[in-house]
Amino acid sequence: MNVSSRSGPLLAGIAAIAAEPARADGPMSYLATFGPRGQSIAALTWGLIVLSVFVVCAVGALVLAGTAARRTYRNSDLERPLPVERGEAGIRWIYAGLVATTLVLAGFTFWTMTTMASISRPAEEPRLTIEITGHQWWWEARYRNGDPSESFETANELHIPVGEPVRLTLASADVIHSFWVPKLSGKTDLIPGRVNETWIEADRAGVYRGQCAEYCGKQHAHMAMRLFADRPDAFRAWWDAQRRPAASASSQAEMAGERQFVERCGRCHTVRGTQADGREGPDLTHLISRTTIAANTIPNDVAHLSGWIADPQAIKPRNKMPAVGLSGPELTAILAYLRTLD
Ligand code: CUA
Repeated sequence: MNVSSRSGPLLAGIAAIAAEPARADGPMSYLATFGPRGQSIAALTWGLIVLSVFVVCAVGALVLAGTAARRTYRNSDLERPLPVERGEAGIRWIYAGLVATTLVLAGFTFWTMTTMASISRPAEEPRLTIEITGHQWWWEARYRNGDPSESFETANELHIPVGEPVRLTLASADVIHSFWVPKLSGKTDLIPGRVNETWIEADRAGVYRGQCAEYCGKQHAHMAMRLFADRPDAFRAWWDAQRRPAASASSQAEMAGERQFVERCGRCHTVRGTQADGREGPDLTHLISRTTIAANTIPNDVAHLSGWIADPQAIKPRNKMPAVGLSGPELTAILAYLRTLD
């Protein structure tokens, strides 16, 4: 097997990643990006990778060439100590190397600085701000657009309008977390006691996976999120639905479920329009509109939801939600009520 056929699959793999047709819904990747912010960063990343590989190959080749270029000695030379010689040609290599290294590093420093400056703020002022608070281990998201009556809260699944920049403010309720949606942007930390600001923009509709990128405890890996980039009309429809208070329970069973919920769950969870107004856990006003629960850990269907409520510690050990010891009928009633929260 020759070298080119061995490196073939590797090069083909790299080329495939580089040329990957835009797919928002694939696994997380910072090499295939969408939107102006992610694209500037990805171009710089590729540039640095290509240059680093080139430098390693060039230095390796020069070292090999230097090792192979032996001087031949006569036997009589070896009977006396060899003088250390400093040939005139040698120093020229050092100067050339110094100049080449300085130029390359200066070029990349300039590229890095101009990229960072260009992504520090979006081209147009964002109309939408999402206030994000990191918790062990979930994401609280408060949507604001200037009018307080339009504000609402949700968790773990963000929606943004496609093709426009969105401002994010990032705070933490406990330890340091880091907000990262690799296909859209680099990481920004959520630090207790301060508010960081960043922005994102997706130029293609789709679902982007995000992940906490700073170790924050046992369930750090299960602190993920889904970011839906919606077309404007879909985003507006989602916004209007989220803004509404919860649908009121209609059947006897649902009303019984609501009472159980307020009593057993309402000190930690809020459902707008009911007496449940806890702040410890995610706002559940429109729980059923989300596709996953427990910060993108399990799907949001009846079976998983029921398993989660019955024993959250089995699914996500050490998270703050306790098993509250519900009887079978109580669990059934609460589930019937939660199913109305669409
Ligand atoms: Cu939050 Cu890691």
